[in-house]
Amino acid sequence: MIQSILPEQWQDRLSIPVVMAPMFLVSGPEMVIAGCKKGVVGTFPALNQRTSEGFEQWLIQITEALTTFEQETGKKAAPFGVNLITHPSNPRMEADLALCIKYKVPLIITALGAMRSVTDQVHQYGGVVFHDAINIRHARKAADANVDGIIAVSAGAGGHAGAINPFALIEEIRGFWTKTLLLGGCINRGHQIHAAQVMGADLAYVGTRFINTLESRAPEGHKTMILESTADDVVHTPAVTGVPSNFMKQSLLNSGYDMKALLDQGHIDFGKKLTPSGSDSSKAWQDVWSAGHGVSGIKNIVSCEQLIEQLVLEYKNSNCR
Ligand SMILES: Cc1cc2nc3c(=O)[nH]c(=O)nc-3n(C[C@H](O)[C@H](O)[C@H](O)COP(=O)(O)O)c2cc1C
Repeated sequence: MIQSILPEQWQDRLSIPVVMAPMFLVSGPEMVIAGCKKGVVGTFPALNQRTSEGFEQWLIQITEALTTFEQETGKKAAPFGVNLITHPSNPRMEADLALCIKYKVPLIITALGAMRSVTDQVHQYGGVVFHDAINIRHARKAADANVDGIIAVSAGAGGHAGAINPFALIEEIRGFWTKTLLLGGCINRGHQIHAAQVMGADLAYVGTRFINTLESRAPEGHKTMILESTADDVVHTPAVTGVPSNFMKQSLLNSGYDMKALLDQGHIDFGKKLTPSGSDSSKAWQDVWSAGHGVSGIKNIVSCEQLIEQLVLEYKNSNCR
């Protein structure tokens, strides 16, 4: 296996160099627990629970399930992680960070603002911080905030995707960054995980492929649309959330968007993620479904366990061992 630069606490805990990326309204404890048991780092956004109290219940559920797994099997589970939106419009930022500290969440993934104060607090209990970057400016800010890993989110990724080709992005970040580097964007198969390592990444950051698992919380329509879509059916637009993101064209059309709206500059407000369903703002993410260009390579809906076993097999057969 190609040697990856990993946090020291993670040694011997991964079956394959993969982090299951956090996805709004898609990832929950079921996916995280299934992934961690199979040696993949499972993560979820704190905002997938409507309140901090609900978020705490998920932390308890995951921690207890992984502890029981380790006691019963004698195996080590992969670490799990929480995605915190470190943007001023997120009103739960402080409360959710306090819970991560209380439960010593092994990995914190920050997005939309790397903060030194967050990194320092996570390091104090022995956790690590990774930060999303879609360009070298974001990556340098993350390095200044003393994060442990930078996630290069390249063009074609699901969610808040960048617009830079993965070869260029990895090359630029590796020019100054010697710690853990992750690559996100269209990675669906074991040989692609190997390819990401050959390019200079330590870990693959896989989102869209995990939407089509039995444990994912995505509605059936979202999963079916992925099966029926190709990369051409994915539109990169700031119109839905204010941050340029990839959404499936058919779900935009079904929700009444037109091409003019797709080109409009939106307004960033993560408080909206907390708005109860039924209001107009719930349309973003709930009715308009995100996915990356990787939809082209997704042909089935399987359990996380089956998917990870397939990835491990393909990875081993791709001449990396
Ligand atoms: C449906 C969906 C929801 C997402 N929600 C979030 C989120 O809440 N926070 C975040 O940091 N990234 C989010 N992302 C981005 C992923 O964490 C990751 O960067 C991306 O999925 C990787 O590219 P891939 O989808 O091509 O594998 C989301 C992606 C998708 C597809």
